[in-house]
Amino acid sequence: MRATIRGIGMNYETAGDGPSVLWIHGFPLSGAMWRAAVAALNSEFRSIVPDLRGFGGSDATAEVTMGDFAEDLGGLLDHLNIREPAAVVGMSMGGYVALEFFRRFPTRVCALVLVDSRGEADAAEAAKARLATAEKVLRDGSGVVADAMVEKLFAPEAPASLKEEWRRAMAAASPRGVAAALRAMAGRVDSFATLHAMRIPALIVVGEKDAITPPDCAERMHRAVRGSHMVIIPGAGHMTPVEQPEAFHGALRSFLRGVPWNKAS
Ligand code: MLT
Repeated sequence: MRATIRGIGMNYETAGDGPSVLWIHGFPLSGAMWRAAVAALNSEFRSIVPDLRGFGGSDATAEVTMGDFAEDLGGLLDHLNIREPAAVVGMSMGGYVALEFFRRFPTRVCALVLVDSRGEADAAEAAKARLATAEKVLRDGSGVVADAMVEKLFAPEAPASLKEEWRRAMAAASPRGVAAALRAMAGRVDSFATLHAMRIPALIVVGEKDAITPPDCAERMHRAVRGSHMVIIPGAGHMTPVEQPEAFHGALRSFLRGVPWNKAS
């Protein structure tokens, strides 16, 4: 489906029935990464699955910030007339967006799931490298990022066909959207004050072999959020939801079943 949100054409899907779950994809992916998870949970939950600005079928803009991504999602929930708090699930960059969404709209979030993500901002060197990559992507296309990321995204034993499927999906991403998101990630803030202040149920999920946001990143977030749960998924790399779907869906389902819906922070 498509809607104009804050002047931008945004693509999104909805599925299922029950309390609302907002799914925020990673970089440089799209809502399609959640397809199996949404199908697995749709008898119990209503899913809202956007393509963030610049990804999938959503329009790109030359610049974007984490704040824009979060405001777009707030606009999408308004458009769908979803007023009650939702559980927000964010993978990697989607986790950065989920934390920004929580800062801006705490009453719209009743639970948070951070998947293969981190709470720290980029160190200066990492931010600089992202800005350089953004320039390269604008010049040479998104294949630059797809080729550089694909091996790091998956556990070493992941099937070559799975890696190739996602390499192609990443290479097809809009260079303008990818470059803008790289700059947005380079400029994002540290989220530990937010994590320390959080008083809603939180689940931190990480692939055992995640080479981009390894388990120690998850562990630091878990220690920061009072009462949070942490699950390490065996055999998964950074793409836990597509590498080990059954274990991921199981962890998510049991967490979401325990959420006190309608109670935001
Ligand atoms: C992602 O998977 O969303 C990205 O790897 C996040 C990042 O580069 O920090």
